[in-house]
Amino acid sequence: MVALSALFQPVKLGGKQLNHRIVMAPMTRIRADDNHVPIDLIREHYEQRTTEGGLLITEATLISPNAGGGPHIPGLWTREHIDGWRSVVDAVHKKKGVIYNQLWHKGRVSSSLLMPNNVKPVSASAIAIQGKNSAGQDYEVPRALELDEIPQVIQEYATAAKNAVKAGFDGVEIHGASGYLVDQFITSSSNKRTDKYGGSIENRARFALEVIEAVVEAVGPEKTAIRFSPFGGFQDMNDDTPYETWGYILDQLKNKHPNFSYVHFTEPRLNITNDTGFTDTDDSLDPFRAKWDGVFIASGGYTYDPKLAAEVAETTGNLISFGRSFTSNPDLVERLRNGFPLEKYDRSTFYGGNSRGYADFSNYIQQ
Ligand SMILES: Cc1cc2nc3c(=O)[nH]c(=O)nc-3n(C[C@H](O)[C@H](O)[C@H](O)COP(=O)(O)O)c2cc1C
Repeated sequence: MVALSALFQPVKLGGKQLNHRIVMAPMTRIRADDNHVPIDLIREHYEQRTTEGGLLITEATLISPNAGGGPHIPGLWTREHIDGWRSVVDAVHKKKGVIYNQLWHKGRVSSSLLMPNNVKPVSASAIAIQGKNSAGQDYEVPRALELDEIPQVIQEYATAAKNAVKAGFDGVEIHGASGYLVDQFITSSSNKRTDKYGGSIENRARFALEVIEAVVEAVGPEKTAIRFSPFGGFQDMNDDTPYETWGYILDQLKNKHPNFSYVHFTEPRLNITNDTGFTDTDDSLDPFRAKWDGVFIASGGYTYDPKLAAEVAETTGNLISFGRSFTSNPDLVERLRNGFPLEKYDRSTFYGGNSRGYADFSNYIQQ
């Protein structure tokens, strides 16, 4: 039975041909070793989820020692990191899959406990996230990056992108979403700078566009992608004019880089802390879809509704990334292709741990 046929239309992405439109969304799983090196368990996890001509996006990966740290989060700045990722990439390529690395700088989401020499985390402005961090403490007030420090941070994205290509990745996805550093510059609630990186939409977009420029220069537009979440909410992000802000960025991107690999947007309804439903909203990604001629990936909530995923793929031509359902269904693509039932995910094993809930879910066995 071909249940959701629109998801099984081939599409070209960067220099690669994909056989279907079901993408594994980037998911932080906190299982690298003490030196941020991806271990064999991580290889096993991605290998299990590989399909021929299917795109996997890795968990967010720290671009440098200054990118916000965190135990067991993988990195991409040492020879060992590159070698660890190479074994993941080789396993995926052996099964003819396509894999991008997600490049991450946490900015103000970090804490001085995680930073080298316990310095303060950095951001666009010295504005703390309201609310408690995952350790139940108040977020720290970050330090606003000085104007003359910004080129160095941008260069770290480019260096990590080069390292990703050295490891064999087919491309990189700049993490420009979910309240991390790039998003902190873009969004009006976290950026109150008065220099050329703050104020107007053009100024708030500057950092993101310069990161894109540097990464494109490092690895080429066909290997460069970015993820955005214009409707924020998460980690205290709220932009005054999301359609105009991200619309401007897309216009710039389209003009400068017609061969850009893809843009990846999270749906406004996305609420990953909620297991039962979605945020109720009238907002939509449609105005962004309308602006973009290239590959567009939509993410958020499709885990609950593969039929909606197929409908969106059908009406928009989008690729759809699945997060939570990929954690517990290594053979998600085959399950959707055949209409097999999905295994429910296990939230308790999302962040950290061992093979349990990570590499021990089995493929569907027909009775
Ligand atoms: C455990 C977990 C970790 C995640 N980590 C990341 C991440 O590292 N980078 C990112 O851009 N999104 C991350 N996300 C968001 C997912 O990429 C995806 O957008 C989200 O899960 C919504 O899709 P779903 O409804 O299919 O789960 C994470 C989600 C989960 C559940």
